[in-house]
Amino acid sequence: MSLNGPVAIILAAGQGKRMKSDKAKVLHEVCGRPMIGYVVDAARGAGARTIIVVIGYAADQVLESLHDEPDILFVTQSEQLGTGHAVKICRETLADYQGPVMVLVGDEPLLRPEPLADLLARQEQDGAACLLGTAKVHDPMGFGRILRDSAGRFLRIVEERDCAPEEKAIREVNPSCYVFQLPLLWDALDQIGTSNAQHEYYLTDAPERLLAMGQKVMALNVLRADDILGINTRQHLAQAATVMQARIQDHWMTEGVTIVDPQNTYIDGRATIGRDTVIHPFTVISGQVKIGARCQVGPFTHLRDGTVLENDVEVGAFVEISRSHIDSGTIARHLAYLGDASVGRDVNVGAGTITANFDGSRKNETQIGDRVRIGAGAVMVAPVAIDHDAVIGAGAVITRGKHIKSGDTVVGVPARSLSARTDDR
Ligand code: UD1
Ligand code: CA
Repeated sequence: MSLNGPVAIILAAGQGKRMKSDKAKVLHEVCGRPMIGYVVDAARGAGARTIIVVIGYAADQVLESLHDEPDILFVTQSEQLGTGHAVKICRETLADYQGPVMVLVGDEPLLRPEPLADLLARQEQDGAACLLGTAKVHDPMGFGRILRDSAGRFLRIVEERDCAPEEKAIREVNPSCYVFQLPLLWDALDQIGTSNAQHEYYLTDAPERLLAMGQKVMALNVLRADDILGINTRQHLAQAATVMQARIQDHWMTEGVTIVDPQNTYIDGRATIGRDTVIHPFTVISGQVKIGARCQVGPFTHLRDGTVLENDVEVGAFVEISRSHIDSGTIARHLAYLGDASVGRDVNVGAGTITANFDGSRKNETQIGDRVRIGAGAVMVAPVAIDHDAVIGAGAVITRGKHIKSGDTVVGVPARSLSARTDDR
């Protein structure tokens, strides 16, 4: 099988011991999405046509999380002998491929595609055997340091644990964003050993090897500090989420969404929001949520996975909506739960309206037609269907399986029709 290039290899076999987790590190979520998803997107966004993910610790979980991505191949590293080893075992998969391969690590979710695309373009231009992206950071702790000669030419990468004291002070670091030329990389990897503090095969030794082989290696300072926040601890995870959240909000503001109080708003990376929608403080939008144009959302609203708000919808304080479709012009201003519901246009959902969607074993649907008016404190024990223009009295409990006919008015507990038009479904 011949592969389409450029190829990206994403290293994701490690456990991430400091996370103290049973979950693979790369599956920890940043703004609702496993971090590896962002790295895959960055690689793709930079132009990678084939992506190889090296898996090992909790391999099944990682496979599962990426299983519907057709352009991803997996290579299993059963023993984590180091980043150099992790790349080396991709050799068989890449046997027939010659050209650039980008190598990234799965625990840097903030990488943006643009600097990676720059690296690929420069590699093509210069034909270097290795181009590595570097970043200058305020606090280089934990990173490999970039050593250059007096003329500024790249010499080698030194891992922090192997740094001499004066090398530790270097603030230009290795974020593990490389473009290598194949098959030259294989020759370099054949030469690296494990004589270092961790007794591992370090990928960071490959550039130096290539230089020694007389090849061209360049280190380009194309990355910013916030691109390369690597996740090794839960603290890092929280920091990355803060940066990512700011980027997500920035994106939607650029697209014409008002976010009244960015600090007190949470928007999932998978959500979409239409222009002139206003997001009020203390709104949490989690999961795949689609919000139309000119909506008013919040304050204190929780929109959960699978929710769609069409245009001109208003949802207000202490309204939670999950897996529901809300058609345009509908208003749920206070204190409501809508789950597994399909709500028509221009419906008024009164304060305290609840869809009782869970019967103890499964979720059931509530269907509400256009222009239905639901009084305060109504409960719909799903499955329930309410046809258009019906009126539900305050405090009514519509019992399981009921079908309220269009134009009918129902009241009471259990809800009964004022016009005897309602019957069992
Ligand atoms: C690595 C780099 C370091 C760089 C830093 C930040 C090496 C030797 N060091 O260090 O220069 O500054 O990343 O990007 O490469 N992994 C495998 N298999 C292994 C070992 C690691 O797949 O056998 C994966 C991990 O899952 C992780 C990534 O490679 O996603 C990096 O490994 P990690 O242990 O985090 O390396 P660092 O110590 O951060
Ligand atoms: Ca790391």
